[in-house]
Amino acid sequence: MTSPSVSRPCPMDRAPADPSAPLLGPGQWHRAAPHFAKGEVPGHVALVMDGNGRWANERGLARTEGHRAGEYALMDTIAGAIDAGVRHLSVYTFSTENWKRSPSEVRFIMSYATDVLARRTDQLREWGVHVRWSGREPRLWKSVVNALRRADEATRHNTTLDLVMCVNYGGRAEIADAARDLARQVAAGRLKPDGITERSFARHLYLPDVPDVDLMIRTSGEQRISNYLLWQLAYAEMMFVDTPWPAFDREHLWDCLLAYAGRERRFGGAVDAVVER
Ligand code: IPE
Ligand code: IPE
Ligand code: MG
Repeated sequence: MTSPSVSRPCPMDRAPADPSAPLLGPGQWHRAAPHFAKGEVPGHVALVMDGNGRWANERGLARTEGHRAGEYALMDTIAGAIDAGVRHLSVYTFSTENWKRSPSEVRFIMSYATDVLARRTDQLREWGVHVRWSGREPRLWKSVVNALRRADEATRHNTTLDLVMCVNYGGRAEIADAARDLARQVAAGRLKPDGITERSFARHLYLPDVPDVDLMIRTSGEQRISNYLLWQLAYAEMMFVDTPWPAFDREHLWDCLLAYAGRERRFGGAVDAVVER
């Protein structure tokens, strides 16, 4: 990506979106999405939706109110991703480490995730979104698994945007699960150890058809990966924005996409700017 046209940084200080504001679908924002040249839009954007608890506590509210406000941010960001032409959007919803939280917060997140999926699936289907799930089944609440499967089934014909909900997801867990699958195949004589390559390994990830991440965005100022998509992030561009997740909206996403369009991705290659004679 060599477009020098955009060097605007992501703004950190916009006022929080009003979570009770009516939801605006793709194309309904008060201004159009920026125009991107072909190849400038990341095919796969991965979001770490972080900062819900701090956003709420700073307002004298319980952490769970931050998760509640995050629903609007998510829907608006999905609409903005569609407007911009993003094809895959992964959203980190609950990590394999988040079980360490208080039982009441875990309970809230599990039942809220179920409610959001039930409440929003029709809307997402109308927007052309295919809702998918990446994560481990053991330990995840059955109601959440069922809601994820129902949403996937109800939207499976859609091709505008794949929304990958990473729920009970851990990058190390995904890699360990893939290794276990491969080991079983070797033990059963269906695969030779020499047949394990980067390409064949990747076929055993949770969603093998989803391409590598082009752009990872983490909200709320933390600059870490927190066990997200470890395999798929190998060559992703990273953006860390101070905005807490409940205050994020499609304008923030578009600013990140504009900044991405101005980055030069090299994938280990190099171009000599000075050609020797
Ligand atoms: C992200 O916000 C949501 C989940 C991890 C489920 P947090 O709940 O981590 O909010 P902070 O980072 O504590 O503010
Ligand atoms: C990452 O955020 C997980 C999700 C956003 C779902 P955390 O808030 O759990 O990450 P840490 O604990 O700050 O690394
Ligand atoms: Mg956090």
